[in-house]
Amino acid sequence: MILDLKDLKTTEKQYYLQHVVAPRPICFASTIDKKGNINLSPFSFFNLFSSNPPIVIFSPARRVRDNTTKHTLENVLEVPEVVINIVTYDMVHPVSLASCEYPKEVNEFIKAGFTPEPATIVKPPMVKESKVKLECKVIEVKPLGTEAGAGNLVICEVLRMHIEDSLLDENKKIDQRKIHHVARLGAEWYCKVDETNLFQVAKPNTELGIGIDALPESIRNSKILTGNNLGQLANVHEMPVIEASFDDAHLKNIIQYYSINPEEMERELQLYAKKLLEENKVREAWQVLLSAV
Ligand SMILES: Cc1cc2nc3c(=O)[nH]c(=O)nc-3n(C[C@H](O)[C@H](O)[C@H](O)COP(=O)(O)O)c2cc1C
Repeated sequence: MILDLKDLKTTEKQYYLQHVVAPRPICFASTIDKKGNINLSPFSFFNLFSSNPPIVIFSPARRVRDNTTKHTLENVLEVPEVVINIVTYDMVHPVSLASCEYPKEVNEFIKAGFTPEPATIVKPPMVKESKVKLECKVIEVKPLGTEAGAGNLVICEVLRMHIEDSLLDENKKIDQRKIHHVARLGAEWYCKVDETNLFQVAKPNTELGIGIDALPESIRNSKILTGNNLGQLANVHEMPVIEASFDDAHLKNIIQYYSINPEEMERELQLYAKKLLEENKVREAWQVLLSAV
């Protein structure tokens, strides 16, 4: 299927874009108007765009139904400050409740059962239940259009972060496994980030990876190794060589058992290398593959 966005109704554009540009982190924005009315609403059109200056952006869009603007947008135009509370799994249902279109004077802290906690630099309160809060100054609001569905970029400079101590390890670093973010996808789909679905990808270091094109042909054209496996192998910064000291019982078995059939041996070695790569053992996988090359 190929879609030209200009041929779609706004609801259809929203439907397809939100399903594919996903998952999106959720900003739970606390804002205040000049009279002191507090608002708390979730926004998944949200992300980090710069570390220095520290900039995050979220987008309260014009309502698709009637092209009206959201209270959050009106508030930041009156008082250009916001607390962005990061949404975690244990708060997702009341966060969703806070997205109901309550009248302006209704405080969603009360409706959704969250505890306001005074911020230290800005006027809107923080959400006590959120494990990470960002006190922000709104430096610019950029409307992206005037039609229903048009976003409004609320460009925020992060002034101060509050991080719950329970998320930190002994070196005061954030343990990613402990945050349990939730993120929004299409329609009513959400996802939860935890130890069962987190994984690490080794960063290419300052020394360049050799690249897929530098892999031996038998590896590059393998029917067994996947694109991800090739990416792992090609991330080494120089072509590995056979290490005489590499001693692996299973490798020895394969070589002994399949010595009369080189094709079978290559297949077995690649299957074993694939298993090692799944365990992130890139050096070992290379040693196994080099036995066949
Ligand atoms: C998880 C979640 C994410 C949402 N993301 C957005 C968004 O990025 N932009 C938007 O305009 N509305 C979004 N909404 C809907 C708003 O939260 C909703 O319109 C809310 O009533 C706005 O409140 P306000 O008028 O008090 O500012 C989202 C709702 C939920 C539950």
